[in-house]
Amino acid sequence: MTKKLGFLLRLLVVGLVIAETVHGAYEFSRYDFPPGFVFGAGTSAYQVEGAANEDGRTPSIMDTWAHSDSGITSGANGDIACDQYHKYKVDVQLMAEMGLDAYRFSISWSRLIPNGRGSVNPKGLQYYNNLINELISHGIEPHVTLHHFDLPQALEDEYGGWISRNIVRDFAEYADVCFKIFGDRVKYWTTFNEANIFSMAGYDLGFMPPSRCSSPFGFLNCTRGDSLLEPYLAAHNILLSHASATRLYWKKYQNIQKGYIGLNLLSFYSVPFTNKTEDVIAARRVTDFFMGWFVEPLVYGDYPEVMKNNAGSRLPSFTALESQRVKGSFDFFAVNFYSANYVKDNPESLNIEPRDYFTDMAVQWKYKQGNASSFMNRFPPSFEFPLTPWGLQGVLELFKQNYGNPPIFIYENGQRMQRNTSLEDWPRIQYLQEHISVLLDTVRNGSNAKGYFTWSLLDVFELLDGYRSGYGLYYVDLDDPELRRYPKLSAKWYSRFLKGGSITPDSSIELEGNWSSLSSAQAMR
Ligand SMILES: *[C@@H]1O[C@H](CO)[C@@H](O)[C@H](O)[C@H]1NC(C)=O
Ligand SMILES: *[C@@H]1O[C@H](CO)[C@@H](O)[C@H](O)[C@H]1NC(C)=O
Ligand SMILES: *[C@@H]1O[C@H](CO)[C@@H](O)[C@H](O)[C@H]1NC(C)=O
Ligand SMILES: *[C@@H]1O[C@H](CO)[C@@H](O)[C@H](O)[C@H]1NC(C)=O
Ligand SMILES: *[C@@H]1O[C@H](CO)[C@@H](O)[C@H](O)[C@H]1NC(C)=O
Ligand SMILES: *[C@@H]1O[C@H](CO)[C@@H](O)[C@H](O)[C@H]1NC(C)=O
Repeated sequence: MTKKLGFLLRLLVVGLVIAETVHGAYEFSRYDFPPGFVFGAGTSAYQVEGAANEDGRTPSIMDTWAHSDSGITSGANGDIACDQYHKYKVDVQLMAEMGLDAYRFSISWSRLIPNGRGSVNPKGLQYYNNLINELISHGIEPHVTLHHFDLPQALEDEYGGWISRNIVRDFAEYADVCFKIFGDRVKYWTTFNEANIFSMAGYDLGFMPPSRCSSPFGFLNCTRGDSLLEPYLAAHNILLSHASATRLYWKKYQNIQKGYIGLNLLSFYSVPFTNKTEDVIAARRVTDFFMGWFVEPLVYGDYPEVMKNNAGSRLPSFTALESQRVKGSFDFFAVNFYSANYVKDNPESLNIEPRDYFTDMAVQWKYKQGNASSFMNRFPPSFEFPLTPWGLQGVLELFKQNYGNPPIFIYENGQRMQRNTSLEDWPRIQYLQEHISVLLDTVRNGSNAKGYFTWSLLDVFELLDGYRSGYGLYYVDLDDPELRRYPKLSAKWYSRFLKGGSITPDSSIELEGNWSSLSSAQAMR
């Protein structure tokens, strides 16, 4: 029996009773969350749409990066991905059957406005209209991101993208087009996905688009870039772009459209490796560099003191007018959380000259050292995130206690597993159960969290892995020309939760009922 056949046979038993014990703290259901609390799942344009060269779309910096030979994506790219561009109706049907309240996706700027600015591509416009209408007709709320690592390559080539001040005007114009066309139906806008990761991984370490870094920093031998300056510069322009788009939305659209706008960050919740005072301070410093970098300008109008001290003149400063525009320019924050990590103080780091963002942080941080190959070695396909749900609690408490308790959406949280080994993804179920349970505790303790989205709806083109790993609730059979989707056990578990089922501690999860018919219905599509 071939591996593939064995895998397909395992698909067939999924409809039967499957029971296994997953431990949780106590029994809960979605009705324990405040009314209106939203549960969803997400994807992003380049990772799911495919049709990369169809209907007038032009490349983004993600296309260029995925087609380069950096090795990060193991030779894979998103040219076809899950082909959601053609299969959005199938996917919305899956979401509706599962019971999702909301779907988080992103708009491909270069599909909507192929040159980055100027004329709108009617086919691109039609696609997002179709997707949004399909979602709404199934009662699913769209949560839309404008920039998910995918600046049009045209703007990167023309003036260097985010390291140029020109980007502020072009981003605001792109955002304006989106608000104008889609804002009658889209009520939740995010300007940037993981603005902090994009700035440091794209411009200091260089392993994410637009792959800029400079020796001796960076995981790759980048051909261009400046790790000393560009991460700070890109972040600064991103903050100014965010503020412009947000103020434009508030001024022109919010009264009529009644929506909300925010910014998304990845939260690597950091805890001290020891209880030594210097390590405790080091963990706070990581929080300032990772979160405070964007949150403090937005909440207080300026960068954290420790960043100003350690980066000196390499950190741009806000003029009084800029500070005023940036300060307060958000309706909500969004955070992506996967796992916490430990940090130790590393004071010698500040004796190094010249320094980049990471040496400025002056900690030993476990994902920092090494080159591309050793970086990849840290993420073998079988790598699963350690379960640290208390880190999610820590991040939400941080926003509550230090940043004024703004409304928060958790836009990504999920478990990485080797792709297409089994549909019985118990580690993912355990991961979701523990995080949602801790989320409930934190909401009960006064956090202003408003929603939770798991990453990801489908096994998409993954940023660190191509197609070697997946986070999906649904498996996508890449060997099938139809790219059929199959529910994993986690889809069934999540669906039961979404439909009000109780999640019980120390008890078997029995997934019975109509799932077999759902999978065979999918198999026949
Ligand atoms: C997993 O997916 C890859 C890529 O599509 C394929 O080559 C491989 O045969 C699959 N493995 C199994 C066990 O199906
Ligand atoms: C970078 O270049 C150096 C010197 O040519 C080489 O030894 C090293 O393997 C390269 N690293 C990567 C990740 O390509
Ligand atoms: C730090 O102190 C706390 C409280 O005393 C303790 O629970 C924890 O295990 C300590 N951590 C380390 C790494 O020693
Ligand atoms: C870079 O990767 C190579 C190959 O895996 C490894 O031998 C080398 O030690 C790594 N260098 C660092 C600084 O991690
Ligand atoms: C609950 O909130 C209080 C008040 O903000 C805080 O002091 C406490 O640490 C929180 N509890 C947990 C477990 O985070
Ligand atoms: C199964 O599906 C049928 C028709 O779609 C529905 O009437 C029935 O209530 C479902 N049963 C369960 C256990 O969900």
